[in-house]
Amino acid sequence: MAGYLVEDNRKVTTLRLREMKTKGERIAMLTAYDYTMAKILDEAGLDAVLIGDSAANVMAGYSTTVPMKIEQMIYHAGSVVRAVKRALVVCDMPFGTYQVNATEGVKNAIRIMQESGCDALKLEGGIEIIEVVKRIIDAGIPVMGHLGLTPQSINKFGTFGVRAKDEAEAQKLISDAKALEEAGCFSIVLEKIPAKLGGIVSKELSIPIIGIGAGNEVDGQVLVVQDMLGMNKGFNPKFLRKYEDLYSRIIDGVGNYVSDVKQAAFPSVDEQY
Ligand code: KIV
Repeated sequence: MAGYLVEDNRKVTTLRLREMKTKGERIAMLTAYDYTMAKILDEAGLDAVLIGDSAANVMAGYSTTVPMKIEQMIYHAGSVVRAVKRALVVCDMPFGTYQVNATEGVKNAIRIMQESGCDALKLEGGIEIIEVVKRIIDAGIPVMGHLGLTPQSINKFGTFGVRAKDEAEAQKLISDAKALEEAGCFSIVLEKIPAKLGGIVSKELSIPIIGIGAGNEVDGQVLVVQDMLGMNKGFNPKFLRKYEDLYSRIIDGVGNYVSDVKQAAFPSVDEQY
């Protein structure tokens, strides 16, 4: 089935994302962690799907992404890969799988690619992870960078607040982004930084910059799907636009089911064998 806004049904590649930037066509990306949701997102015409390690928060209820394990990412990524026909599928390398040394990082990257079937990987960090980024790309695996708020380092930052507000951190972010591009990354996610800085990075780099809380001057946007569908009632950061209120809809739907079951109004005669 074609996405309802999409005429070109060919599989999206990293090259295609690059062409989209060149043509000024914005890139729409969301997270997914399971088969059913990923299938709907793909059929709705999304360009790229991210199996974010935010699965730790959204699917497992942890307060950070630090506990996420490689086996759990592979499980989520495999479920998404089996659903998606068109969108580019990018999987996060979880905390601890690429920070120890480059050789271990490459082994883990190959394992995620082979066992999940995803198209590309995302790693958090700049200059400090450049060696492992290069080695993974040398192994033939496309890498998306991730700068700004990098949740795997939350225990170092101590806050989920906006990053790179001061000049020194902004300059470091720009040089990290350039280093990632030079290392061969096909794209970079910028999370929770001033909009102006997002625009500068997007202009100075030729690879697509995907923002989450990074303003409207970047080349595309990514959000956590449960957040943008309004399932996470108490989560209302400034950068988030809720396109649905699924929390209320699910409460209503489930409430009606409970009431029907209690009153023996479900199943009806037509719903029985
Ligand atoms: O894990 C995740 O969902 C992410 C996005 C917020 C970009 O990295």
